Amino acid sequence: MNTLTTAPVAPLLDHLFAEAERASSPAMKNMSGEERERLLRSKTEYLDFYGRIKDLWLPVSRETGKLLYMLARASNAKSIVEFGTSFGLSTIHLAAALRDNGGGRLITSEFETGKIARARHHLEEAGLADLVEIRAGDALETLANNLPETIDLLLLDGAKALYADIFDLVEARLRPGALILADDADMCPEYMQRILAASGRYLSIPFAEDIELSMKLG
Ligand SMILES: C[S@@+](CC[C@H](N)C(=O)[O-])C[C@H]1O[C@@H](n2cnc3c(N)ncnc32)[C@H](O)[C@@H]1O
Repeated sequence: MNTLTTAPVAPLLDHLFAEAERASSPAMKNMSGEERERLLRSKTEYLDFYGRIKDLWLPVSRETGKLLYMLARASNAKSIVEFGTSFGLSTIHLAAALRDNGGGRLITSEFETGKIARARHHLEEAGLADLVEIRAGDALETLANNLPETIDLLLLDGAKALYADIFDLVEARLRPGALILADDADMCPEYMQRILAASGRYLSIPFAEDIELSMKLG
């Protein structure tokens, strides 16, 4: 029995990835490439930026989703934190791994209320809602308190400019061997400097399409 590759999760993911591809955003279409790049890197305008493009799902790729599941399974993760839920596609992959690891807890964070409602619904359809706590609001606040003692895996997939700040909130709780996946990490030089400069404490490699995969050493 494997949760990711069987019903209800497998057909649900097919359906949700197809819907994600069809979604469009007039705000994004009207934005120049330069404006988009500037907003993606901004530490002050991320609320406005993600509010304007709230119709876009912006999910991890299907390959990255599988990678998330595989890494969470292979590391026997029981405690996962995610920055950036959106409509819950990465969350479903991670929660499926928790289910197959025998249970656990996934804390994920999102500030768009419409997305939170849809993500909850998708997790219920997937039969995985019991494993997931969606923290509503700015992750800088919602992930600042009440985290588990030990965290096995961290996914950074929210506002790129905040990766280093979110990492700072979680780092002390990452267990030796914990994995950190940062999507589009090249857009956050502050995070890359932090993880690479912590010499001796992390092993880190660029991986798959746009992922920086890092592991905390013991
Ligand atoms: C790239 S999408 C996440 C995609 C999701 N991980 C998936 O694979 O389906 C980024 C999401 O992070 C949310 N976000 C960005 N900055 C945030 C913050 N500071 N706090 C909470 N949510 C944030 C955005 O609203 C957006 O939905």
